[in-house]
Amino acid sequence: MNPPRHYLQFKDFSAQEYDYLFERICRIKDRFKRYEPYRPLFDRSLVMIFEKASTRTRLSFEAGMQQLGGAAIYLNTRDSQLGRGEPVEDAAQVISRMTDIVMIRTFEQEIIERFAANSRVPVINGLTNEYHPCQILADIVTFIEHRGSIKGKTVAWIGDSNNMCNTWLQAAEVLDFNVHVSTPPGYEVEPERAGLYGTDNFEQFADPMDACRGADLVTTDVWTSMGFEAENEARMKAFADWQVDEDMMDVARSDALFMHCLPAHRGEEVSAGVIDGVHSVVWDEAENRLHAQKALLEFLLLGRVDD
Ligand code: CP
Ligand code: NVA
Repeated sequence: MNPPRHYLQFKDFSAQEYDYLFERICRIKDRFKRYEPYRPLFDRSLVMIFEKASTRTRLSFEAGMQQLGGAAIYLNTRDSQLGRGEPVEDAAQVISRMTDIVMIRTFEQEIIERFAANSRVPVINGLTNEYHPCQILADIVTFIEHRGSIKGKTVAWIGDSNNMCNTWLQAAEVLDFNVHVSTPPGYEVEPERAGLYGTDNFEQFADPMDACRGADLVTTDVWTSMGFEAENEARMKAFADWQVDEDMMDVARSDALFMHCLPAHRGEEVSAGVIDGVHSVVWDEAENRLHAQKALLEFLLLGRVDD
């Protein structure tokens, strides 16, 4: 049996595969908008394993799998044996004999890698401490829909060098665009943890205004990600000057987009004026999780499809 293809981090796919996927996502979205049934995954099942909370990821995978004709099964650590210490390798062996594809949201990237190494079926990263590739797939499709190719463009990342930031940085290497990162001191990007090949596609800025200057897209995320709640008080103080506000958007390009993976905290990482303002495409971004992941499920299970 050939080892399955997984999607554990953004760089698992090539630029050519992303070109295919971006077109495929638009095709699948267009069909959905025209209420045209499309059920290529009839009789296939997806298991979704959540060790952290979720609204968008669960809903988009569950609805997406159903729309493609398959079934989605929800497991969490609270009421499965995963929460009672069953080795992840054993769980992977069993789960992957009963289902066709797996999505996992967990803590360390190492957990999902161990699962994938023991899985007979494709495994998708639904967020780890290090990466959130499904979100960036949807974000880049959203950028393309509004502004065309992202190649050569500049993305400003303001705030924490978290799973979202790391994934933007990987995407910049794969798709050849630039990321301007501004984090508070002590929260800088760690290129090795981000899984980068080099530093050609990103630049760090002490002042978030400088990172936003001339940017085509400004984006941010919560100051305290899931799993880091114990640091919340220190983070609230450290990140106070890293709120994306109207002044930051004013120095970006006049047609700059604003994105946030959500959930957002107005008055913390973003002002209400920005997230609810004219630059913001956060609702398109959230919706595109559905279309992007349907194309991803189809690609991992059926390969390239041209209808
Ligand atoms: N953006 C995102 O992954 O949202 P959820 O945590 O609600 O899944
Ligand atoms: N960085 C956030 C993203 C949530 C979708 C977290 O990991 O909690």
